[in-house]
Amino acid sequence: MSLPSKVRIVEVGPRDGLQNEKQVSTDAKVKLVNDLADAGLTVIETGSFVSPKWVPQMADSSDVFAAVTRKDGVTYAALTPNVKGLEAAIAAGASEVAVFGAASESFSQKNINCSIDESLERFTPLMAMAKEHGLPVRGYVSCVLGCPYEGDIDVAQVAHVAKKLLDMGCYEISLGDTVGVGTPMAVKAMLEAVTTKVPVEKLAVHFHDTYGQALANIFSALQLGVATVDSAVAGLGGCPYAKGASGNVATEELVYMLNGLGIEHGVDLNKLAQAGWDISDALNRSPNSKVSLALKAQQ
Ligand code: HMG
Ligand code: MG
Repeated sequence: MSLPSKVRIVEVGPRDGLQNEKQVSTDAKVKLVNDLADAGLTVIETGSFVSPKWVPQMADSSDVFAAVTRKDGVTYAALTPNVKGLEAAIAAGASEVAVFGAASESFSQKNINCSIDESLERFTPLMAMAKEHGLPVRGYVSCVLGCPYEGDIDVAQVAHVAKKLLDMGCYEISLGDTVGVGTPMAVKAMLEAVTTKVPVEKLAVHFHDTYGQALANIFSALQLGVATVDSAVAGLGGCPYAKGASGNVATEELVYMLNGLGIEHGVDLNKLAQAGWDISDALNRSPNSKVSLALKAQQ
């Protein structure tokens, strides 16, 4: 069995997590991003520039970007569905942006109000403008292991959309199990299909933990050579357009597992857990992370 010696963690809590939370102040968001950078995270999805009518929780992203203390070596990323979003991300000083498509037609309609093909067309001018500004663009594919509206998704469709995003110029494709329905062998089958079209070095995995499968799924992906993993501190998250989807895999769980596997990642688990407790306090709940709870119990 071969595993990567190093994993790059993409922390999505401030965006994928907090896009679901109505009651978070801008100050709490800024503190979270700063705390995550202090804990050693080097890629932090800081916010999104989407329609405030669709996702009002992210309407203060410009303010968050403006107030964050920029740390050298840290990428402050933003989600951008269209040119309008990209313009706002550039004005806010985002260090990279991400477009988001889906492997499911119904999810594409519900999430970004257009078909898969239309979404790819919409990204074309965005890609050109990002290139002009020297901004790297990441591509997400949602619903890679199942869709809340359509159920099973054909792995060939996932591979097709991932390849399209790569060909458009995305430097990396993050494969999202948006509803968290996947299991390890399904992950293997999906990755085997996608890697016929996209090299594994260009892939990341993004698991939600709705059915408690996220860590097992990550382990499956690591065995196939994937070395970039998305996660959210305190297991924050869900998706406003995926009913019942729970949070992303907790970064604490991921870091603990990588420690056990002897895989390098650069994150201080205790500082990370503290960041998770602080944002959870702001949300008036405990972290959705067994590692955090176990560490707290030992204090
Ligand atoms: P639309 O209504 O079809 O677009 O929405 P439109 O162009 O007709 O614009 C409608 C209004 O929104 C207009 O305002 C625009 O100006 C405004 P009005 O004239 O009515 O006052 N608008 C914007 N405002 C701010 N920033 C923008 C922007 N664009 C338009 N960028 C659109 C289409 C894509 C904009 C909309 O559907 C949208 O914003 N969707 C975002 C949905 C979203 O953020 N979902 C969650 C993130 S995806 C996710 O979580 C999955 C992921 O984590 C991976 C995984 O888990 O699998 C990535
Ligand atoms: Mg997500």
